Amino acid sequence: MWTKENLQEMLKQKLEGYQFMVVSNREPYSHEYEGRKIKCFKAIGGLVTALDSVLQSTGGTWIAYGSGDADKDVVDKNDIVRMPVNNPRYNLKRIWLTKEEENDFYYGYSNQALWPLCHIVYRQPLFNVSHYNTYLNVNKKFAAAVLDIAGKEKSFVWTQDYQMCLVAKFIKEANPGIITALFWHIPWPNPEVFRICPQKIEIMEGLLSNDLLGFHIHYHCHRFLEACEQEIEAKVQWEEMSVTYKGHTTLVRPFPISIDTQNVASQANLHFVKNEIDNLPDEIDPPYEILAVGVDRIDYTKGIVEKLYAIDRFLEKYPQYQGRFVFFQQGALSRLHIKYYKEYIDRIQALTEEINWKYRCGKWYPIVLNNRRTEYYRQLALYRAADICIVSSLHDGMNLVSKEFVASNTDFKGMLILSKFTGASRELKEAILINPYDIENFADSIKEAIELSQDEKTSRVKKMQETIEENNVYKWAGKFIENLAKL
Ligand code: G6P
Repeated sequence: MWTKENLQEMLKQKLEGYQFMVVSNREPYSHEYEGRKIKCFKAIGGLVTALDSVLQSTGGTWIAYGSGDADKDVVDKNDIVRMPVNNPRYNLKRIWLTKEEENDFYYGYSNQALWPLCHIVYRQPLFNVSHYNTYLNVNKKFAAAVLDIAGKEKSFVWTQDYQMCLVAKFIKEANPGIITALFWHIPWPNPEVFRICPQKIEIMEGLLSNDLLGFHIHYHCHRFLEACEQEIEAKVQWEEMSVTYKGHTTLVRPFPISIDTQNVASQANLHFVKNEIDNLPDEIDPPYEILAVGVDRIDYTKGIVEKLYAIDRFLEKYPQYQGRFVFFQQGALSRLHIKYYKEYIDRIQALTEEINWKYRCGKWYPIVLNNRRTEYYRQLALYRAADICIVSSLHDGMNLVSKEFVASNTDFKGMLILSKFTGASRELKEAILINPYDIENFADSIKEAIELSQDEKTSRVKKMQETIEENNVYKWAGKFIENLAKL
């Protein structure tokens, strides 16, 4: 079993004498003004959830964009702040982006070109040359920060995700001795989809500057290798899963990301989390007997609209649950300057009002939306209070909400409904698996989850807990670094 301690031990042995750096766009913690006070917030999303646990165990430097309005006021002269605030374990080095850079790099190329390209959920990607040029320059900026910290020392740099495709290329050009690896947190598209990207060659060249490239599942590794064969003059060795391009070899491997399972379970058992469960009915206004929850970043890939359609159909088809069933959607607002995201949240709100109006009876109505930022312990309380958690992504690299829900379900009360199109569904096989586009079956699955016997629930949840206890985030990081060390 992988633990924080044996990951630390392994790093000591394998990366002795190396500086360890992680590079991502999203910073793990941001500082924000609330009135005159500065508050520190943890970011949402799978990337931060996983890597914060890893860095707390390994130490090192995390380089990321300083997006909080008070971020500049808490860093030292090198733009570094120690994190987490209450138990400092690693350096967070903040990179500053101009408004234009944020607009073209983050809202533009990263989230309007690469994000829809890779998720394939019927939103057309926008390829804009000026967005791409800024993307390239911002990647150069991150590489420069790495080179600066590395100096002449031996270093290992682990970049994260689709916002950072070109960073390794700029690092290697300046200092080929630095070991570079990248983990791709989202799906990799099939070759028919990838080939439409006008910058596909540059993207591939950037990714192949890494010594190791990780995806969540085999399927994405294979799609990437196919793209290498089809798009560039590269030699693909299928058996050893590697690609040689311009004399440099990149290993391609699957590493299913996870959570600090034991820590989530023990936090979920803390007494103030338990107390919070008693306070939830204050926030969830309509009376209920059966509580279903959804916890997502509001994103069109998460299938929130499909979830609402399925709830509507469920209440229509099984009227015995009207007046008894409430669905609470916790939805963190995200990427709001992008048209598709604005339209998506409007659609969710309009649909919620429509469904609530259709079924409302006395004090009861079926759907509650909450877009306020929630503290982590409240999220855990919500998981613990829920009879059902619904994860209905249309396409998702992994989905760590599903794993957190299972880990915090210490009394085996709740059942997970999980989209087949998440990486997590390959591990959490005992969940009720759905195709979120198939509304009829989705509605029936809600009924099935409610009517499952306690014995059945206990046995299925226990199996899922065993799986994620074994495949925790320390194993994910440990296996990644072990593969790198073999090089
Ligand atoms: C996904 C992506 C991450 C991203 C996170 C949150 O998990 O793979 O790279 O950080 O979403 O999105 P945001 O745009 O807020 O960073």
